[in-house]
This record gives sequence, C-alpha cells and structure tokens, in this order.
Amino acid sequence: MDILVVGNGGREHALCWKIAQSPKCTKLFCAPGNAGIANVAECVNIQPQEILDLVNFAKNNLIDLVVVGPEVPLVMGLVDELESEGIKTFGPNQAAAELEGSKAFMKDLFTKYNIPTAKYSKFTNFNDAVSYVKSREVPIVLKASGLAAGKGVIIAQTEIEAIRGLDEMMNQNRFGEAGKEVVIEEFLTGEEASFFVLVDGKTALPLLSAQDHKTAYDGDKGPNTGGMGAYSPAPIITKAIERKIMSSIIKPIIEGMANEGCPYKGILFAGLMIKDGEPKTLEFNVRFGDPECQTLMRLLDSDLVEALEATVNGNLDRIQLKWKNEIAIVVVMAAKGYPGSYSTGSIINNLNAAEQIDGTKVFHSGTRKNSTKYVSDGGRVLGITATGKNINECRARSYKAIEAINWTDGFYRTDIGWRIINNKNK
Ligand code: AMP
Ligand code: GLY
Repeated sequence: MDILVVGNGGREHALCWKIAQSPKCTKLFCAPGNAGIANVAECVNIQPQEILDLVNFAKNNLIDLVVVGPEVPLVMGLVDELESEGIKTFGPNQAAAELEGSKAFMKDLFTKYNIPTAKYSKFTNFNDAVSYVKSREVPIVLKASGLAAGKGVIIAQTEIEAIRGLDEMMNQNRFGEAGKEVVIEEFLTGEEASFFVLVDGKTALPLLSAQDHKTAYDGDKGPNTGGMGAYSPAPIITKAIERKIMSSIIKPIIEGMANEGCPYKGILFAGLMIKDGEPKTLEFNVRFGDPECQTLMRLLDSDLVEALEATVNGNLDRIQLKWKNEIAIVVVMAAKGYPGSYSTGSIINNLNAAEQIDGTKVFHSGTRKNSTKYVSDGGRVLGITATGKNINECRARSYKAIEAINWTDGFYRTDIGWRIINNKNK
C-alpha cells in the first residue's frame, strides 16, 4: 500500500516510523513532515490545512491510505473530501470531529448519554456567563468551545479572575471565534491520565493509557504547553479502572455518536480525571496525543497498518494487538522561550550518539535540514523516547541520550515520570 501521513510533529514522526516497518507499506509520504520524518518517508511540501492540495496529491499518486495526524484538518473536513474521491482515510469525518471541534457539542453528548464529567453550563452571552459564575464556587474552569490549540482553558481561582477570563474570551476575542461560546464547568480534583482507543464506527479496540506533563518547567510549574513529556502505560489506570472507562465512557460515546448520525472512526483520545477509582471525562480529542503517541508507538509490537486499515474498513473486531511488556517514556526538548517566543535555526549535533544508548529513539517535532546539519524549526523540537523495564530504567536511558545531544538553544524538564516515582515511594 502507498500511504500518506498528514502532519509535521513528533506524533507524525512516530506514526511514520511505525508505518514504515509494516510489510504492507510499499511507499510512504508525509505532508509536510520534518527532517526526522524525511529519514523514513518522502516529505511533500503541503500543509495540513491545504485540503484541496492534499486531495489532489493523494489522487495523483494513487494513495491507498491517508492517515491524518492533527485535529485542524479533521475539523475542516479533510476526511470527507478524501472519501468523496474514494480514498481510504484514517480519521473521523467533519461531523464526528466536532467531538474535539466544539466542547459545547461534546459536553451536551456527555449529558445525553450519561457519561461522567464535570457539571457545566454553556454560554454565548457574557452577562449570563457572569451571573452563572457568581452562582458557583471557585476554582472554576472556563473553556473556549472551539479549537484553541490547547490554550483555550482558564482555571480561575477567584470570581474576579473568572469574570476577567470571560471578558477576554467573549468580549476581547482572545481565542477568536473559538471563544464566542464558552463552557463553564466545575473544577475537578484527582489525577489526570489519558486513554486511547481505536474505533471503527461500532467496535472500540483499547490501546494504552498514558500521562502527559503539560507545564513547561519542573515541578509542574510554568505555562501550559502542548506537552513536555509523557509515559505509557499510566499506573493509575488499573485493569479495573480500564474496564470502567470502557463501559461508562467509551462504549456510550461510540453508541451516542452512531445514534447522532455521526459514527466515530479513527483514534479516540480520552482525557480523564481519576479520583477514588472513578474516572470522569475532561475531554475527548479526535487524534493521537503528542507526545503520548510517541510512547504508544514504542510499545506496539503489532503491525500498525493492519490496525489502521481495520479501523477504516470497519473490522476492528478481528484485530488483536500485542504490546511490549515494558514502559516507554518521552522527554521533549523545546527551544528556549517556548511556549512563548523562541528562535529557530540553531544547529543540533550528536543525534546519532543519542540513539546509540540502549532502548532509545529520537523523534523529531520541529526540525529541518540545513545542508547536512539538523537545525531547530519549532517550539517543541525533539522527543527523546526510551523503553525499559521500569520508570527508572526509562528515565536513565532518555536523560543519558539527552546529555549526548549537543543543542545549546534547547531546554527540557528533568522530572518526567515524577508521579510514578512519588506514588511508589508513598
Ligand atoms: P482540556 O483541554 O479540556 O483537557 O483542558 C486542559 C487542561 O485543563 C486539562 O488537561 C486539565 O489539566 C485542566 N482541566 C480541564 N478541565 C478541568 C476541570 N473540570 N477540572 C480541573 N481541571 C481541568
Ligand atoms: N499532549 C496533549 C495533546 O496532544 O493534546
């Protein structure tokens, strides 16, 4: 099969790396890709939002399967356009991608199908939103309903902060159109984790759990980022909790989506809060997490292409996946200044040395090649992954690999995996 992956991050590097290992894959393209992806796929200079160009490329090159990485083209309807040309595509169509594209739509489904989540209300009128905030307790959570590149959530500690947040979202257009409608919800406490399933419209095949590290600096300090590191699986998601997630969250949302006339196909990423053994849903994403995907791909022992094909063809019930009985970690190296402003174009040396360390693999998030050298080309730049038999072995391997890398403009968190270590020491 000739396969096209859409996207240019670490997630897409991990997907390409795994797809390229499949005996089913005859030719692999990535649009637009990055310098790491170029080692396993042919990069094509088309951006993920350039829907028509992507469709034309897939048609002209007789692509057998398109795999869409990021949410924006999914919400824009890339899958619908490709399918209308008869091109098989992994990912939800536009109607199903609303699950991530509109938090108001998502929360209403939770209510309708009785899926455990934080209590909420949604508003398009500022004064009504303010009155609601005044009637609730703080902290309180404000969410821009639309896509806001992971930045549309404000956790307000006081009523004044909440009203200011609402003003920024609803009157001052801080998140543009995405903030015109706001979901206001109860603040949940507990431990956060993610859970991933493949869905073919009716059957859900569980993958693994993971835990992300969202803030920029050690000790969960600093501004929120796209994710500075992750590991999989997450020990908090025990087998018993996994069963609850499948029966009280995943099954009802899949049945609900089908019932609403927008059956879900693709990867479903549940963001969860776990307290006293009970999972509640914070959100669904309609894509793999980045950097969580990098850890999942390191642990998958089966042919990814077979699983993606079965998802598209509606026969996931025939697939059984094998996983390495190990832990995988990813530590992100980002450009100094990220998630604020940062510069690009600085040289990164010694990546080969990093990959000599047992169990490691470096995925590129934002790199390009400058003649023969890799240079930085984004906020998150590299994801250093390692597998191992426990968290300490994984951490030792990935941090040793980081020490081998020579990139003066980068920074990383030194505490990825702290929660597992702390919980063990309790
Ligand atoms: P979301 O994009 O909805 O996942 O929100 C981003 C982050 O905000 C989550 O990963 C949580 O850390 C936090 N968050 C979102 N909703 C809540 C909530 N209801 N209670 C506590 N924290 C939340
Ligand atoms: N790492 C979190 C996300 O991909 O949304």
